[in-house]
This record gives sequence, structure tokens and C-alpha cells, in this order.
Amino acid sequence: MAILIKNGTLISASDTFEADILIEGETIAQIGKRLQHPSAEVVDARGKFILPGGVDPHVHLDLPMFDTVSSDDHYTGHKAAAFGGTTTVMDFVVLEGEGFAHSVDLWMKKAEKAVVDYSFHMNLTQFNEKIAKEIPALMKMGIQTLKVFTAYNGRLRLADGDIFKALQIAKENGMLTMAHCENGDVIETLVAEALAAGRTTPEWHALTRPAWGAVESTLRMAGMAAAADAPVYIVHMNAGGEVDMLKYVRERGVKAMGETCPQYLFFTIDNLRRPDGAKWVCSPPMRTQDDNARLWEGLTENILQTVGTDHCPFFFDGTKPLVYEGEPIAIPGKELGRDDFTKIPNGLPGIQDRMPVLWTTGVRAGKITANQFVAYMCANPAKIFGLYPRKGALLEGSDADIAIWDPEKKVKYGAALLHQRTDYNLYEGWELTGYPEKVFLRGKLIVDGAEWKGKRGDGKFLKRRAGEIL
Ligand code: URP
Ligand code: ZN
Ligand code: ZN
Repeated sequence: MAILIKNGTLISASDTFEADILIEGETIAQIGKRLQHPSAEVVDARGKFILPGGVDPHVHLDLPMFDTVSSDDHYTGHKAAAFGGTTTVMDFVVLEGEGFAHSVDLWMKKAEKAVVDYSFHMNLTQFNEKIAKEIPALMKMGIQTLKVFTAYNGRLRLADGDIFKALQIAKENGMLTMAHCENGDVIETLVAEALAAGRTTPEWHALTRPAWGAVESTLRMAGMAAAADAPVYIVHMNAGGEVDMLKYVRERGVKAMGETCPQYLFFTIDNLRRPDGAKWVCSPPMRTQDDNARLWEGLTENILQTVGTDHCPFFFDGTKPLVYEGEPIAIPGKELGRDDFTKIPNGLPGIQDRMPVLWTTGVRAGKITANQFVAYMCANPAKIFGLYPRKGALLEGSDADIAIWDPEKKVKYGAALLHQRTDYNLYEGWELTGYPEKVFLRGKLIVDGAEWKGKRGDGKFLKRRAGEIL
């Protein structure tokens, strides 16, 4: 069946223009003025913007953490993504002792209920000769990315020497290394000191993870990438100094790229000082207003390359069920750390929020253009992660992943409106203007206003190839 979207204003990463879009099957067949088709269903998009479906490069669905699990799975999280205009998400596979293939299989099973398209990054949290030899096989599985950590001592962190070797192997195989940059040793010392002094409230989560650790780790990671002549992608950039480091190394030809997340643009350590401060506990933590401002500059000035969510939600009070699709559900959450900030599951909801919140606060507020919005939300993540132009683009031959965006729609935002499976939202009560009206995944309408039309299992695993270095 063909669909003809007429009279809309298309927004790409570089242009804004009026055109019709003809969808045939799963792809965009034609883009042009006054298109005709004898039997297509016509969707009138006059007064609306047409955006490529969003590509969220950083989500954690069904992730085990601290005796619980992130509360969105590969159905609920995908559904929430779709309602926010996102049609492709990239999740992180936890590396189990049995190796890559086994770990990927486990994640494939979890994702059988997918409702948007998805791919995986591999958390590289162990390193030895055997693992090093297996890395190239990931590329054949369509997994083009490794995530390394300079923090979470004794759990996820690799030694710098092993990170350097991973960068070399990744480079040889056309893969990309993603890096979580904080200083694990400083954190370990400060956490022990805080606990010994009885400092257990959520703000100590931020106070024990200083911004300087993120800044020096970002420069260290870029330095190692330069020494390996390998690309690196710094995830969840949160400190203004990281933007400065990224600018510095990029100006010197280092193949470093950076992602920030909406939460780091708005919130500060003061949010963790509230009685419900655990809601804002994630790693890396919230910083200061100066950091918010510098991160915004990073977007305005094109120093950063993407905006991901790091969506990793937990209930604020997981003892109280909420009703999701008619079923009561309660999943242990932030209350696990009521008496000890180190036991608060780390992470926040955001998969649905990313595009609507950034449209109002970024595009409407004049901080970024609509084309930059599409670059950060759609095109750049697709390019960097080897999916462009199939994803992240409105081009003939691209998958027909399309968000019809109503730029005038006003929404009072908050948990009640949302499909993220958690009991709170960071943007509760915010007034947003501009919202997705219809969302198509490979030519199929999956969101129609407030109506959900997606189907479990319709989301496809995307094998990725080598990406671009932006
Ligand atoms: O607190 C967070 N962000 N949890 C997810 C894991 C990570 O490091 O991205
Ligand atoms: Zn991380
Ligand atoms: Zn993450």
C-alpha cells in the first residue's frame, strides 16, 4: 500500500523545503512537488514539519542494576520512543562471562518484542587475549561499537592500557569505541570517605563524582584515541569542561566525537538536594548552571555531534504499582537507596522526552536551528553508527521512518501523558510547543496522535556497518 504525505515542510540536517513524500512499502519512493499516485492513501501535512524518525544512540532497556532492572523493556521503551518521534534506538549489551555471542543472544531474546528498529553496542567490560581476538566477530554480527568505561572500579572499568588496545583493535576493524569518561579512582576514594562520614543523601552521588574527573578522562580518552589514530565517541557529556576538551582535540585533528543528553542541559546538583533528589541520580551526575550553558553552546556551535538520552529509568517508589496498558506493575527502584546514595539505581527516563523537550527548549528558544535539531537527533547518530542514509534521512530509498511534527501543538508535559514505564518525569509540568502528531516506522503508522498502532515484534534488528567520523 502506498501513502502520500502532501504539503508538508521537510526538514533535513541541511535544508528546509516544501515537498510531498510518496511511501511505497517500507521505503520513501519519491520526494517532490505535487506528487500524484492513483491509489495512495493521502495524509495532508499542511502546516506541519516532516522530520526523519529520530535515532537515539544511547538507551538501556531491561538492564539489570543493583538487585533490580531498568523499568522499561524492549516493548515499553520502544513504544515510548515512538511517541516522542524516535524510530531507531541503540541499546547496550552487557558482556557476560560466556563471551560476546552468548551475551548478544541474551539481548536478542530480550528484544523479540521490539516495536521500533534497534541495534546494539557491546559493553567491553572485560579484556584479555581471548576477548581481544573475538572483537572482530562483533562486526560480522552487525555490532560496530564497543563501550569502555574509565569509572565503575571493579565492575565495568578497564585499565587504560586495555582501553588503548581496544581502540587499536576497533580501528583495525572499522569499529568505533564509545567511552564513559569519569575518574574511577577519585570516585572510589571520595565515596569511601563520604560513607565513612555518614554522608548518604543523593547530593553525595554528585559530590563524589567530580566534573574534573570527567574533564580529564575525556582528554585522556581523546589522547589515547589520537595515539591509536582511532575514532572515539564520548557518551553522555555532562561537564562544560568536556565541551572545551572536545573542541581542543577536534581542532587538532583528533577523531573525537561527543554526545550530550537533555538532562545535562537543564538540571544541576541542586535537583539532587530536593527531598525527591534520587530522581536525578545518574552517572555521570548533574553539574552546575555553567555546565548547562556550556553544553548548550556545544550544540549551538556544532562542537558536539549528537544528543542521546542514556534512557535508563527506574521507579521513584517501586513499592507502589503503576498501571501500564491496563496491568499493574511495580519494579524496585530508587527507594533501594533511601539510606545510602550508593544503592540508588543510576539512571533516568528520557527516551520519549528527547525530541519534544529539545524542540521547545532548543529550536523554539532559538538556541539551535531546526536543521541542527535533525542533525543531532537523526542524521548524525545514523551516520556515526553506520545506518545512514537508511535511517536518519528523508531521501528516496531511505526507510520510511517519518515523524509528522505539529509545530504549534501545545502540551503540558508530564508522567500522566507518557508511555515511559516509570512513576515520574523530569520535565513534569513543562509547557511544550511542538509535538509529534503521526509517526511512521518503515511505512507503517505506529503513532497516530494519542493512539498506539505499533505491534510487538515489528521492530527489526539493524546490522550496522562502519560509520562516518564526523
Ligand atoms: O546512570 C546511568 N547513566 N546509567 C546507565 C549506565 C551508563 O553509564 O550509561
Ligand atoms: Zn555510561
Ligand atoms: Zn548509558
